Amino acid sequence: MPTQVHFVAGLLATLTIATFFISTVIVELFGSHEAVATVKALIVMPGLFILVPSIAATGGSGFHLSKSRQGRLVETKKKRMPFIAANGLLVLIPCAIFLDRWAAAGTFDTTFYLVQGIELLAGAANLTLMGLNVRDGLKMSGRFRVVPNAR
Ligand code: HEM
Repeated sequence: MPTQVHFVAGLLATLTIATFFISTVIVELFGSHEAVATVKALIVMPGLFILVPSIAATGGSGFHLSKSRQGRLVETKKKRMPFIAANGLLVLIPCAIFLDRWAAAGTFDTTFYLVQGIELLAGAANLTLMGLNVRDGLKMSGRFRVVPNAR
């Protein structure tokens, strides 16, 4: 059961960050200010209400699973987790909330785009760390194997 919880929560958290990132880039490039404001609002609600519990469930279930596991992969995953959590709590959440407020008020000034840039960088960093944790997790569970001479 903890493995299934970890699998679902880990994939959900990673896909949520990926959705935030891709929808932000697309709407900033091609959307109107109204469309940007809509995406910003959706990122906060329901976005953050999906992201925060799924990251917490991933970390909690991961540390629970790691009690019975040893080795380099699990140690590396453990080391990445504080960066993922801190990046989420201290950078992504405040950025999402401020960007939503400013976009709703129609304030698209230099500060908005500066914070938007910071959010995208933090999102890309978390996506990379979470992607690496998914890869290492799948290796540990035996679902992700490199098959020699597979062609
Ligand atoms: C956002 C962070 C993380 C993501 C996205 C993630 C994702 C995954 C995924 C997709 C699996 C494969 C599960 C399966 O095939 O059923 C897995 C397995 C695993 N993860 Fe994570 N993980 C994360 C953080 C952690 C942390 C912090 C730990 C604790 C150190 C951890 C420990 C494990 C262990 C021990 C397994 C192997 C489970 C088994 O088959 O016995 N993970 N992880």
